[in-house]
Amino acid sequence: MKVLMVCLGNICRSPLAQGILEKKAADNKLSIEVDSAATSNYHIGDQADSRSISKAAEYEIDITNQRGRQIEKNDFQEFDRIFAMDVSNYNNILSLTNEKEEINKVELILNLTYPNDNMSVPDPYYGGEDGFENVYRLLDAACDVIIDQLKNE
Ligand code: 4NP
Repeated sequence: MKVLMVCLGNICRSPLAQGILEKKAADNKLSIEVDSAATSNYHIGDQADSRSISKAAEYEIDITNQRGRQIEKNDFQEFDRIFAMDVSNYNNILSLTNEKEEINKVELILNLTYPNDNMSVPDPYYGGEDGFENVYRLLDAACDVIIDQLKNE
């Protein structure tokens, strides 16, 4: 199973989502490959935001090796599931493909925990530290659902 986490900058939300899911996969001895990407080209090659790195470290997750990249057409073939952090990312991802099989791989991540509500993980970039704890909790719960689904496969 290969999972791609996607947000706008690939420095705040999706690196955290990647780190959380990788840790849960390792803890559960599940073989999942996880990567993350941006819809934008703003932070290609950049390390994750220091506030995301600190938040991850609080929960014993190391995301310092991650570097920003932009989603590309090939990712639709490469990955089994593609999770968008917010509605805007979701629409931007879908604008990259017309293939039904590829479209079906794309989901809003919070629909795992709040089915059909189409909720967004709030963009914490311009906010304070509090925003990152909220993001962490939302993503932690959503990643638990991914793990449960894989265990039940
Ligand atoms: P992310 O947060 O999408 O969670 O990585 C953002 C990071 C950077 C910007 C916006 C959101 N930016 O405008 O540079």
